[in-house]
Amino acid sequence: MFETLKTRPADSILALMQMYKDDPRVAKIDLGVGVYKDATGLTPVMRAIKSAEHKLWEEQDTKVYTGLAGDPAFADAMIRLVLADAVARDTVAAVATPGGTGAVRQAFELIKLARPDARVFVSNPTWPNHISILNYVGIEMVPYRYFDDETRGVDFDGMIADIRQAKAGDVVLLHGCCHNPTGANLNMTEWQAVVDVLVETGAVPMIDIAYQGFGDGLEEDAQATRLVVSSVPEALVAASCSKNFGIYRERTGLLMAISQNADARKLHQDTLAFLNRQNFSFPPDHGARLVTMILNDDVLRADWMAELEEVRNSMLGLRSQLAGELQRLSGSDRFGFLAQHRGMFSRLGTTAEKVEEMRSKHGIYMVSDSRMNIAGLNAETVPILAEAIIASGV
Ligand code: LMR
Repeated sequence: MFETLKTRPADSILALMQMYKDDPRVAKIDLGVGVYKDATGLTPVMRAIKSAEHKLWEEQDTKVYTGLAGDPAFADAMIRLVLADAVARDTVAAVATPGGTGAVRQAFELIKLARPDARVFVSNPTWPNHISILNYVGIEMVPYRYFDDETRGVDFDGMIADIRQAKAGDVVLLHGCCHNPTGANLNMTEWQAVVDVLVETGAVPMIDIAYQGFGDGLEEDAQATRLVVSSVPEALVAASCSKNFGIYRERTGLLMAISQNADARKLHQDTLAFLNRQNFSFPPDHGARLVTMILNDDVLRADWMAELEEVRNSMLGLRSQLAGELQRLSGSDRFGFLAQHRGMFSRLGTTAEKVEEMRSKHGIYMVSDSRMNIAGLNAETVPILAEAIIASGV
């Protein structure tokens, strides 16, 4: 029977990861998949994670099932981290999920279950897997303008005009911070205007927040999410711990559904637990437990926050070095946007042909839409990239 299966198009980001591995050249630079790397190219286990793992090894005496929603202490700790006191705790239903992607998937399933005819508005561009999962789950998708190819900032007027087309019963998917793949973000005045449109249209916001702490700071990066959830009656938030805790392979995420009151919350909670049961039963616990231990322990938390700041500042340093190098080589300010963007990524804003040229001639790997993972650079490779950008006529 399985001969009926069709080959599926490869995920552009994961395919690039493999191409990079297969490239025999020694001098090559990986700016593909979104993982943080230090100056030596290592994606380190964070200090607080190591300490928590040690403690867990000593103290954990069972690995029996938790609950379908995961350990409630994980939800409590993450809700505090992401939402703080933006909404009352008893209006938030939450389930642990396998990574942020698991949270996104469960959110889409919840939408489909509640409103089979809902449309989800997505930024153009967005993380390619948003589109892939929406197609797979069978939800209609409507792109909204987001990136301005000229300024390499947000096409704010285009965005507002497009999301205004959403109706009650539709969902608008937003990146809470550090937009993936562009690195271009809204300021808080612009976020307020987005909120006004959501209130006006009655569309439900869904926020994907996968890089809290990688942009302007742990609190600053959550500000937009907090503003949105405190301004509308219903919202979904998919949070990932992969990046800011560096626990990519542990698959640790949380889906939050914010509603108006405790009765609605119970319905959300039961439905989300049901969806977990159908798809994988109990969510992974190891990463969630480490995160909970860190967030609930003053010493571990302080160490984690300090290391996260080191990570954030190193990316900011690379951004300004790259922008400076390009300014010197091009004799113009046209690459200044690289220092303005926030998070791991920047969209260079060039053609797939030029991206290909940088790959074949210079061994530089970026996603074909010209998304670069800034954390893939170090002080020595920044000038190499800058020269390749100029040599390729970007
Ligand atoms: C990325 O965008 O590179 C990351 O979110 C990793 C992934 O799963 O695509």
